Amino acid sequence: MRILSGIQPSGTLHLGNYFGMMKPSITLQDEGDAYYFIANYHSMTSLFDADQRRQNTINVALDFLACGLDPKRTVFFRQSDVPEVTELSWILSTLTPMGLLERCHSYKDKLARGVSPNHGLFAYPVLMAADILIYDSNVVPVGKDQKQHVEVTRDIAIKFNQEYGETFVIPEPRIGGDVAVIPGTDGQKMSKSYGNTIDIFGEEKATRKKIMSLVMDSRSPAEPKPDADKNIAIQLLKLVAPAEVAGEVEARLRAGGFGYGDLKKALFEHYWNYFAPARAKRAELAANLDYVNGVLNDGAARARAVARTVLNRARKASGID
Ligand code: ADP
Ligand code: TRP
Repeated sequence: MRILSGIQPSGTLHLGNYFGMMKPSITLQDEGDAYYFIANYHSMTSLFDADQRRQNTINVALDFLACGLDPKRTVFFRQSDVPEVTELSWILSTLTPMGLLERCHSYKDKLARGVSPNHGLFAYPVLMAADILIYDSNVVPVGKDQKQHVEVTRDIAIKFNQEYGETFVIPEPRIGGDVAVIPGTDGQKMSKSYGNTIDIFGEEKATRKKIMSLVMDSRSPAEPKPDADKNIAIQLLKLVAPAEVAGEVEARLRAGGFGYGDLKKALFEHYWNYFAPARAKRAELAANLDYVNGVLNDGAARARAVARTVLNRARKASGID
C-alpha cells in the first residue's frame, strides 16, 4: 500500500496540523510504503516571501522529523525537487471541469475571507491531484478540510482513465486521528489563517500565556459544569494527556469544585510534556542541518524515480510521448 501526504510550508505548524495530519501520517508509516513531502509549490499560492518560504521549508522538515517521521521507512522530500508534478498538473488540468474547482470549499472560504485569488489558488487542487497520482498513491492521510481535494483527485483520475485508458490508481482519503477538527483558542477550527493556533514547538513562556488566556465562561470553580466536554481546554487536554487524566479532570469539572485556572494549568503541563521528547530531538536536528538536507535530497531521488515512471505512463496514454 502506498501512503502519501503533503504539508505546506506556509507558516508555523500547530496542534491542528499535528493531530489532523502529522500524527496519523507518522502512525501509517508502519502500514505501508509512505511518501511525505513539503508542498512548497502549493505555498506559492499564498506566501510571497522567498526567504520566508526557505525558512518555513526547513522548519517543516525539522518539525516532521522531530515528531517521528522516520526517513529509513519513509520517503521524505520537497515537492519542487520533483518538477514532473507540474507537467502532470497541466495534463490533468485539461480534464478538470471548471465547475469542479469552483465548488471547492477551501477556495470558496478564501474568497469569502477577501483573499484576492490568483490562478494558482484556483488550480491548487489540480496540482494536489498530480502530487497524489504521480506516486500511484492508495491512501492519503489528511485533516477533514482536505477531504474534498482528495475527492477531486479521484474524479480527475477516473476521468483520465475513462478518456485514455487505465493509467492512474484511484486514491482514498484517510481522515486523521480521533478528532476530525482540532479547535483553536477561539473554538473555531485551529488554523494559521485565523490567528488561533497553539504551535507544536511554541516557546514556553508565550505558550503558557496563550493557554492561560483561553477565554472561558464566568462560572465559579465551585459550580458544576455538566457541559465540560464542550470546553476547548478539555478537548485539547484529551489530545495531550493520558485518557484517565483527561477523564478525571472532566469529571471534576462536571462535579464542581474545580476551576478553569487549574484546568488551563493542567493543559499547559501536559502539552509541554507531551512534546518534550520531540522538542529535544528537534534541537538536535536543528544543529545538524546537513543531515536534514541529506534526508530531503535522498527522498527526492527516490520520489523522482517513481514520478518519472508514472508521468511517462500518462504521457504515453495521452499521446504526447
Ligand atoms: P492551516 O489551516 O493552518 O492553514 P493547512 O491547511 O496548512 O493548515 O493544513 C495542513 C494539514 O493539517 C492538512 O492536512 C489539514 O487538514 C490539517 N489541519 C490543519 N488544521 C487542522 C485542524 N484544526 N484540525 C484538523 N486538521 C487540521
Ligand atoms: N493541500 C494540502 C494542505 O494544505 C497540502 C498538500 C498538497 C497535500 N499536495 C498534497 C496533501 C497531496 C495531501 C496530498 O494541507
